[in-house]
Amino acid sequence: MNDSRDLMLPHIRKLNTYSGVDPTDVMAERAGIPPDQVIRLNGNENPYGPSPKVLEALGSFQNYNHYPDPDQRRLREILSDYLDVPPDHIVAGNGSDELIDLLLRIFVGVGDNIIIPSPTFGMYAFSSEICGGEAVSVPRDENFEIDVEAIKLAVTPKSKACFFASPNNPTGNIATESQIRALLDFDLMVVVDETYYEFCGRTVMPLVDEYPNLVVLRTFSKWAGLAGLRIGLGVMQPGLAQTLMGMKPPYNVNMAAEVALTASLEDRPLLLERVKRIVDERDRMMGMLEKIPGIKPWPSMANFILCKLPEGRGQEIFEGLCNRGIFLRYFSGGELKDYVRASVGLPHENDAVAGALAELVGG
Ligand SMILES: Cc1ncc(COP(=O)(O)O)c(C=O)c1O
Repeated sequence: MNDSRDLMLPHIRKLNTYSGVDPTDVMAERAGIPPDQVIRLNGNENPYGPSPKVLEALGSFQNYNHYPDPDQRRLREILSDYLDVPPDHIVAGNGSDELIDLLLRIFVGVGDNIIIPSPTFGMYAFSSEICGGEAVSVPRDENFEIDVEAIKLAVTPKSKACFFASPNNPTGNIATESQIRALLDFDLMVVVDETYYEFCGRTVMPLVDEYPNLVVLRTFSKWAGLAGLRIGLGVMQPGLAQTLMGMKPPYNVNMAAEVALTASLEDRPLLLERVKRIVDERDRMMGMLEKIPGIKPWPSMANFILCKLPEGRGQEIFEGLCNRGIFLRYFSGGELKDYVRASVGLPHENDAVAGALAELVGG
């Protein structure tokens, strides 16, 4: 055989890869500064880190030599208490990313499609393409609101699901309950990704019992600062949860993630106090960004702010920020050409972002 590519599935051969965030030392090297000076605001991570109780619990746990429970019994019980949803409605994943992938593998095959109100989180399109499906982008309106009528027109017999985030990444706005109910009335799975729920408190989880086609995703990556340990969850009706449980990798959530989740839930007041600090900082940062001529920041209900930069200057300003050790998420093409998304960081980091943007935009 000359090349393993000859045997690859055609849709994998032409896959568009997903680029996630780089490690801090790679950013430091790029900017030519020590890693502890990097301002890392491109992954919507929690700048306060995990709860101190998590670090203690991880250090004292004794059974890392055992496999985790493939049925997630204890995990689902704990999550059931937390969410006030029966355990048989819950599936935990290796980040919510894994649940996105597993759900797509249940519903989408070669030739099928999913509808994504765009712009939105890149993993929906990426994971659907891995299944041989297509992500049909339906543009949001000028305020990034979901266009339910346009989605209705885009649905075909090949459409299996509609995936979107609320609050949406990267636009920061939420979908209303009436928009979501309208989508649920189409003949589609509707996956509402509530990764940023804790920053806004708006959820459609109570609708799960009413709609067999609704899945709500959450994660511990953002509010609890556990992005590096990879733990997310999905809530859905028991029949679908059972299918997901039956097809996931048996030990998908590792013991460290389970220990960390348990300790995080025991330290909820501290973590929610930090969430409040992030929300207050977001509003302060919004005020600073609004004052910079030439920049348009979008109101956000999450832990990041999307900013439109002056036309045609996105790349140059992004590079200028990187050279100063400030790493934001840059959208180099499509509908978000000339936009950056800044995660809300520590107060001095947010000051640095606003200061650098003012200088770079001013010229
Ligand atoms: C909308 C959305 N969904 C899912 C994720 C991934 O979350 P997790 O870390 O739980 O895989 C992200 C991460 O940024 C996100 O923005």
